[in-house]
Amino acid sequence: MERQRTLDGSWTVYSPQHAQTYGSRHGAATQAREVFLSGSGTAQHPAPAVLEVGFGLGQNFRVTLQDTLRRGVPLQYLAYEQAPVDEQTLREVSADDPLAQHPVWQQLLTRWGGPLQIGTPALQLELRCADVTTVALPCGWASAVYLDGFSPACNPEVWTPDFLARLAATLRPGGVLATYSAAGRVRRGLMAAGLQVQRCRGPAGKREVLRAIRPV
Ligand SMILES: C[S@@+](CC[C@H](N)C(=O)[O-])C[C@H]1O[C@@H](n2cnc3c(N)ncnc32)[C@H](O)[C@@H]1O
Repeated sequence: MERQRTLDGSWTVYSPQHAQTYGSRHGAATQAREVFLSGSGTAQHPAPAVLEVGFGLGQNFRVTLQDTLRRGVPLQYLAYEQAPVDEQTLREVSADDPLAQHPVWQQLLTRWGGPLQIGTPALQLELRCADVTTVALPCGWASAVYLDGFSPACNPEVWTPDFLARLAATLRPGGVLATYSAAGRVRRGLMAAGLQVQRCRGPAGKREVLRAIRPV
């Protein structure tokens, strides 16, 4: 696993197994902020409940926590990860992050290595170490879903119509699923799941991304 600096200064990691990086080479933190935090409406939500597919390097989580701490709103964050990176990698990629020294992130690093729960007045974090396609998911719970697996070509199980329908069911009415892939089959799967799909302009290096809303 090779650490790589991205164009906005944040770090990502190259996965030889998937022949791609965990975050965008054009800016991993920027992608997290624009595609997931803003794209899902979490940046405006008064009490976000986020379900994430693929905790990875925790980039989306840190950006989200940084935002809710700044706004003084509580955050519930439920993440699934089937192959957690090693602790050293997580330390290295987050070393320059604005949240690197925050007690919550430090606690996560100290306890890293398996399923994890952290509860503070500002944050309820649960990390479930499992193949997300094989476990029961909460129904009607999420204000936002961050669908951030590897690409549909090399990580197909998290992009199937069946699994997209299961993710749609985790959203509460008005909830938003955000993802960086605007592939036609992903759009069609989300529409078939009953979501209202919008194509949005992507951050640098990505022409389009998706947001898909559960009708109220
Ligand atoms: C693009 S990376 C996610 C980056 C991450 N969201 C971040 O902010 O750093 C994709 C992640 O999805 C995880 N993943 C892929 N398939 C999965 C599955 N079926 N269940 C759970 N996690 C999965 C991979 O192990 C990898 O960590």
